[in-house]
Amino acid sequence: MKFVRFIMKNATLANVPKHVEHFAKFSPSPLSMKQFLDFGSTNACETTSFVFLRQELPVRLSNIMKEINLLPDRLLTTPSVQMVQSWYVQSLMEILEFLDKTPDNHSVLDEFVDTLVNIRNRHNDVVPTMAQGVIEYKSVFGQDPVTNQNIQYFLDRFYMSRISIRMLINQHTLVFDGATNPLHPNTIGSIDPHCDVTEVVRDAYQSAKLVCDQYYLSSPDLMLQEMNVNNRKQPISIVYVPSHLYHMLFELFKNAMRATIENHESSHRLPPIQVMVAIGGEDLSIKVSDRGGGVPFRKIENLFSYMYSTAPTPEKGEHSQTPLAGFGYGLPISRLYAQYFQGNLQLYSMEGYGTDAVIHMKALSTDSVERLPVYNKTALRNYKVSQEADDWCVPSREPLDLTIYRVAK
Ligand SMILES: Nc1ncnc2c1ncn2[C@@H]1O[C@H](COP(=O)(O)OP(=O)(O)OP(=O)(O)O)[C@@H](O)[C@H]1O
Ligand SMILES: [Mg+2]
Repeated sequence: MKFVRFIMKNATLANVPKHVEHFAKFSPSPLSMKQFLDFGSTNACETTSFVFLRQELPVRLSNIMKEINLLPDRLLTTPSVQMVQSWYVQSLMEILEFLDKTPDNHSVLDEFVDTLVNIRNRHNDVVPTMAQGVIEYKSVFGQDPVTNQNIQYFLDRFYMSRISIRMLINQHTLVFDGATNPLHPNTIGSIDPHCDVTEVVRDAYQSAKLVCDQYYLSSPDLMLQEMNVNNRKQPISIVYVPSHLYHMLFELFKNAMRATIENHESSHRLPPIQVMVAIGGEDLSIKVSDRGGGVPFRKIENLFSYMYSTAPTPEKGEHSQTPLAGFGYGLPISRLYAQYFQGNLQLYSMEGYGTDAVIHMKALSTDSVERLPVYNKTALRNYKVSQEADDWCVPSREPLDLTIYRVAK
C-alpha cells in the first residue's frame, strides 16, 4: 500500500511541469475590492469561492513558478531558492487534488479550508528564505547591474504574487470559518469597509514608538493632521485591508524615528514626525515627514533594491543592529503593499534636512483592484536583458587636460 502511494506521489510530481504549463496559460483574474466584499457578504457562497479558488490559485502559482525558472541558474540552484520552489510545487499539488472533488459534501469544503491554512503556514518564511538565497548568491558571485535588475524585477513580481495569494487564502479562511472577529465585528475577512485611516496611523506610531523607546530610551512625538475635502467634519475612512496599511505605516515610522534620533544625538529636543492624511476625489494620500537629515537623491532608488539592501542580519550584540532596521526590506515590501491595490509609495528627501515618505492609495473602492503579475512574452523578454552600452556619456573622473585634448585633435 505504502509502495503504491509512493508511485502515485511520484507520478503526480512528475506531472507538475505539465500542470504548471497548463495553468500558466491562463492570466490571473484581478479582483476588485467590491468583488472581495461580495465574496464575503452575508449571502456569500462557500462553494462559489471554492470553485473560483481551486482554479485561480493554481493559475497564480503557475504564472509565478514559470518566472522562478527564469532566474539566473546560479541563484535558482541555491539551497534556499530550491526550498522555496519545493514549497510552491507541494502547494500546487495539494490544491490540484480538489479539481475532481465535488463540493456538495461539506467535508470537502472543510478539507479545502484546512489545506489552505497548511499552505499559508508552509509559505510563512518565503521572504527571509528568498532573501537568504540572494545573500548566498551575492557572497559567491558578487553583484552586477544585469543580475541586480533581474532580481529586482523578479522579486517585485514574486512578492506581489505572494501578497495576492495570501489575500485570497485569508479571505476564504476568515470568511468561511463561521466566526466573527470579536475585536472588529464589521470586517469582512481582512477588509474593513470603513477603515479609519488616522486610527491606523496612531496604532502604527504607537508600536514603532514602543520599539524605539526600548532601544533609544526616547522617541519623537507625532503631529497628525487630516484634510477631508469632501466632508471636513468626517474622519477619513476607506475600504481597505487595515493590516496592509498598518504594515506600511509601521515601516515608515520605524525609519523616520531611527533617522530623527540618529540625526539629533546631541540635541535634547527631537523634532516631531508630522503626518498629513488627505483625501480627494481620486487619491487618499498619507505623508510621513521627518527631520532625520535625509538621503542623497542619488541613493533613493537603491533604498528599494533587494540586492543592495540584503545585508546578512548582523549578529546579536553587534553595534549596527537596531530593532528599527533589519533586512532592508521595509521599503520595497511596503511599496508592493501600496501598489497591490493600485497605489504607490514614494520617498522625497532633502539631504541635510529630512524625508517625506508618501503613501498614495485609491480613495474609491471601485478603483482598488488587485495589481498582479502575468507571465507572458513581455515578462519573458524582461528576463533576457543584457548589458548594453549607455547612450549618455559617462563623465570622466579625471580633470580634463586641455593641452592633451588640443594635441589629440
Ligand atoms: N526617513 C528616512 N530618513 C533617512 N534614511 C532613511 C529613511 N527611510 C529609509 N532610510 C534609509 O533607507 C534604508 C532602507 O530602509 P528600509 O526600511 O527598506 O530598510 P531598513 O530600515 O534598513 O531595514 P528594515 O527591513 O528593518 O526596514 C535604511 O537603512 C536607511 O538608511
Ligand atoms: Mg526600515
